[in-house]
Amino acid sequence: MDGVTDSAFRHIVALHGKPDITFTEFTNVHDICSGRLKALDSLRYSEVERPVIAQIYGKEPALFYQAAHVVCELGFDGLDINMGCPSKNVASSGSGAGLIRTPTLALELIGQARKGTQDWVAGQTLEQIGLKTKALEAIDHLKRGLQPAATATRMTIPLSVKTRIGFDRNMIEEWSACLIQGRPEVISIHGRTLSQMYRGQSDWEAIALAAGLIQPHGILVLGNGDIQSLREASVRIRESGTNGVLIGRGSLGKPWIFHGIQEVRASFHTGESCSAPPHVPNLEETFRIMLEHASFFERVHGPERFVRMRKHLGWYCSGFPHAATMRAQLVRTHSTLDVLNLVNQYQARALYSRGMEIPATLTAS
Ligand SMILES: Cc1cc2nc3c(=O)[nH]c(=O)nc-3n(C[C@H](O)[C@H](O)[C@H](O)COP(=O)(O)O)c2cc1C
Repeated sequence: MDGVTDSAFRHIVALHGKPDITFTEFTNVHDICSGRLKALDSLRYSEVERPVIAQIYGKEPALFYQAAHVVCELGFDGLDINMGCPSKNVASSGSGAGLIRTPTLALELIGQARKGTQDWVAGQTLEQIGLKTKALEAIDHLKRGLQPAATATRMTIPLSVKTRIGFDRNMIEEWSACLIQGRPEVISIHGRTLSQMYRGQSDWEAIALAAGLIQPHGILVLGNGDIQSLREASVRIRESGTNGVLIGRGSLGKPWIFHGIQEVRASFHTGESCSAPPHVPNLEETFRIMLEHASFFERVHGPERFVRMRKHLGWYCSGFPHAATMRAQLVRTHSTLDVLNLVNQYQARALYSRGMEIPATLTAS
C-alpha cells in the first residue's frame, strides 16, 4: 500500500508472522526508468521479506519492458502490475484502474513486462536496453543496499496483475476474459469498482465468479478486500474458491496479523476449519513491537523521514486506557527516542496509578 507498506513495515510484519508473499508499494515505471532516487526507495526490501514482489504502474509499454529488467536485476521474486489504483492522478491518466477501460493497452503492458523479464533471463543488461546514466547509477545505488545474493541468478520470475472488478460497474466477466489472454501467473482481485474507491463492501461473489472463470486457465486467483484476521481469510478462501487472499488495511497497527498462518495453512491440508484464536499481543508487547518498528524505520529511511513513521505510531494506539492521548502525543514525535520516552512515561504513570514504585529504568527521559 502506497505510503504505508514501506520496507520497514514489511520487515516488521515478516518478523512477527510471516505472510506467504509480500508486495512492495507501487512504483511508477517512469520513475524507475529515469532513476528518481526518492521514488526508488519503494523498491527497497530486506531478505526476511522473501518472497517479495515488486509492484509497478504506468501506461507506456516501452517503460514496462525496461522496468521489468530493473525489477529482475534487483532480485525480486515476482513482478506485479497495478491495474487497480483508483486515485485521480493515477487512474485518470490511464494507469492503475484506468487500464480497465483500455484492455488492449493492458494486454500490451503485460506482454512487454513479460518480454522484459525473459530478455533479462537471456542475459540482456540494463546498459543494453538504453537506460540513461542517471538511472543506472540510481539502480546501482539501490542494489548495493540490498543483499549480494539478491542479484545472483538469472531466473524467470512470475508475472501478476492486481486489479478491481470494474471501472464504474461490475464487469468482472469481460475483464477476466481479457486478462486471461495475457496469461499472467496470478490475478489478484479487489472486489470493488474504481468508482467505489474504498466505499461499500468488497464483492466476494464477484471474486468467486472470477476465480471460477480464471483458474481453469492455470492462473491463480487471490481475493482481496476487508479482511481483518486470518480466520476471516480462511473463511473467504474456502467460500470463494480462490487460491489465497491479500490483506491490506487489516495489517495497519497490527503487523502481527499473520501470526499463526502455519495453523491456517495446515487446516487447508486437513480439510478442517481453522480454530486457532487470533494473536492479540498485550500492551507491553505492542509497545515493544512499535519501538522495534520505529527504530528499524529510522535505520532504514533515516531520521529526516521520521514524519512518515508517525501514522504507524498512531495506528498502534487503540484498545487500551488513554490510547487517544497516547496517539495524539506519538503523532508529534521526531525520533525513536521520543517514542521511547512517551512509552516510559505511559508505563510509569500506569504503575503509579496502581500504587507501585516506579523503576529507575522507566523514568529516564
Ligand atoms: C493508503 C492505501 C494505499 C494503497 N496502495 C496500493 C498500492 O500501492 N498498490 C495496490 O495494489 N493496492 C494499493 N492499495 C489497495 C490495497 O492493496 C487493497 O486492495 C485495498 O485496501 C482493499 O484491501 P483491504 O481491505 O485488505 O485493505 C492501497 C490502499 C490504501 C488504503
